[in-house]
Amino acid sequence: MGASTDPLVATSARYRAFAEVEARGMSACYEGWAAGVADDPGIVALIDRLPAVKRQPNLVFSAARLHGAAVGEYPVFADWLREHWAAVAATCLTHATQTNEPGRCAVLLPALAALAGPLALIEVGASAGLCLHPDRYSYRYRIADSDGERMLHPFDGPSPVVLECTVSGPVSLPERMPEIVWRAGIDLGPLDVQSDENMAWLDALIWPEHDDRRSRLQAAVAVAREQPVEIVRGDLNDEIAALVARAPAGATVVVFHTAVLAYLNEPDRHRFAAQMAELPVRWLSNEGQSVVPGVLERLAETPAPSHSLPASAFILALDGEPIALTQPHGRSLHWLG
Ligand SMILES: C[S@@+](CC[C@H](N)C(=O)[O-])C[C@H]1O[C@@H](n2cnc3c(N)ncnc32)[C@H](O)[C@@H]1O
Repeated sequence: MGASTDPLVATSARYRAFAEVEARGMSACYEGWAAGVADDPGIVALIDRLPAVKRQPNLVFSAARLHGAAVGEYPVFADWLREHWAAVAATCLTHATQTNEPGRCAVLLPALAALAGPLALIEVGASAGLCLHPDRYSYRYRIADSDGERMLHPFDGPSPVVLECTVSGPVSLPERMPEIVWRAGIDLGPLDVQSDENMAWLDALIWPEHDDRRSRLQAAVAVAREQPVEIVRGDLNDEIAALVARAPAGATVVVFHTAVLAYLNEPDRHRFAAQMAELPVRWLSNEGQSVVPGVLERLAETPAPSHSLPASAFILALDGEPIALTQPHGRSLHWLG
């Protein structure tokens, strides 16, 4: 957990850390807003009326944008926030940060396609389930340091969702889509793709300048609306065994997750890893570096030089063994061989 999401860290310091570590280089607007909040005791006092777990910059800013806060300079935002605080606070209390990024399918797909099919997919921490449709999107894989690229389409032709990803390392890109015969998810608070209100929240969670992600989200929602997938409401540790038991016989069951285990405490991460070792599944994780028990330690034993590991990179691991480094939104994939 970073300082900006740690409820034990004082609000001003959380916003400072968010500005300097998470937003810098990613969103000039959020960097400005977060730095402004950090130096503004009046706004900090407003935010401190929320329970500590609800003071995260990403939650407060997304709630503000849902209610119409315009992208721009901090002083204008601060005035707006004072005026609309009641509505923003109510949204913070009833919503959570659960960004659903279909772009992450681009880094999952080569690993899925390399498994013996047909596949039964289970995503834990699925949010609205947009990563449960990897075979229904098109992909443009650009080969790093060359002009080469590889397009990959669903069995029934090109998808309106085209995910772009730059690949490096000894990657072997799939020739065809994996065959996925069954899919389901688990989430503490599933979002319903059929609900315009839920989808407006997913849109608000995307950072202001990331327009490519916003249009991709809309296209992916349209795909997902045509093919509803069940997402069980509950804790992943409590629900996983029962869901695995429901998968069809004869399929390889793949349990996967991306940007989820950071939300669990240490004992619950270990409990989940132990279940993955015991259940008859393949386990594909795509998480921050120190999140999945044992993965970072095993990475140190691979040929990948540690200095090539940007702090923000996720580690893609199959059955606990690191296989690739990935950009957190799926924009790039470095295969470890
Ligand atoms: C950041 S979102 C990622 C969503 C999706 N995996 C993706 O990559 O687009 C994290 C999701 O994990 C869910 N989550 C967090 N802790 C959970 C738990 N203990 N059990 C089930 N879901 C959980 C949250 O509700 C949220 O929807």
